[in-house]
Amino acid sequence: MEFTVKPLSTHLGAEVSGIDLSEGLGGNLAGALREVWLDHGGFMVIRGQENLSAEAHIAFGAAMGPLFGAPDQSPLQDTVSRYIHPDYPEIYRVSNKLDASGQPLGRKGAGTYWHSDVSFREQPASASILHAIEIPEIGGNTLFANMTKAFADLSEGMKNMLRPLNAVHDFEVAARTQYAKPIVVEDDMAGANRAVHPLVRTHDETGAESLFVNPGFTSHIDGFDADESRWILEPLYRHATRPEYIYRHQWQPHDVLVWDNRSLMHYAIADYGDAPRYLERTTCIGERPV
Ligand code: OGA
Ligand code: MN
Repeated sequence: MEFTVKPLSTHLGAEVSGIDLSEGLGGNLAGALREVWLDHGGFMVIRGQENLSAEAHIAFGAAMGPLFGAPDQSPLQDTVSRYIHPDYPEIYRVSNKLDASGQPLGRKGAGTYWHSDVSFREQPASASILHAIEIPEIGGNTLFANMTKAFADLSEGMKNMLRPLNAVHDFEVAARTQYAKPIVVEDDMAGANRAVHPLVRTHDETGAESLFVNPGFTSHIDGFDADESRWILEPLYRHATRPEYIYRHQWQPHDVLVWDNRSLMHYAIADYGDAPRYLERTTCIGERPV
């Protein structure tokens, strides 16, 4: 099992080349990749996966952790079930394309706000695995912010102030401010899309502390009113999204990205108009944050 690893930025990311996930995961390939991933801030891109079928994608995802939508797991990873692949409940489609009947094939503009996938569930996502099947020639990059580094750089006073706090995460926050309100309300799974999590979480594999709040899904700090929450959260978001903490991914066709939602936020840049974009995601169910 030979592959090359190249760092992508100072604080975040590894580029992996020389492997073909469609050939299976023999020789503890998934374990070796997991090590590279955790050693590079929870982000890696595996280039050149043009042979990756949906089944092989799901097999790789399942090797990274239990998947949302898998037959032996409950809930779907998303509130809008029609964005789930009709043949593969583990696969969530991110796309601006339309199907034969003119319905969106996937969620257009998904994630055009800083967020951590599924943070509104009691057990949010750990890894997300996103396979780029069709991408615009220009635009449609994705940003990743390192919330471990952002937390580590705070003063001890600030860290101690933040550690006891909990934040409320609610899918309504994104739904209210985005395109999806009518669809979401009709398709919502009552009560399953709201959770309270520590504002600073400790990674269950690396032990590192990270900020765990995001503008996409965090509604407020538990026990604080809306204004008071903003006084704390908005400066934290400004801090965490400083360019120093960000890696910007320029997609190549058949990149497979793996990112860690426990320690990163991401943002999908919607700057490509109607140029077709189609990606498939599997998502691992993480532990309850502590
Ligand atoms: C996602 C997501 C970003 C993108 O799939 O979770 O936020 O650029 N996608 O499509
Ligand atoms: Mn996302």
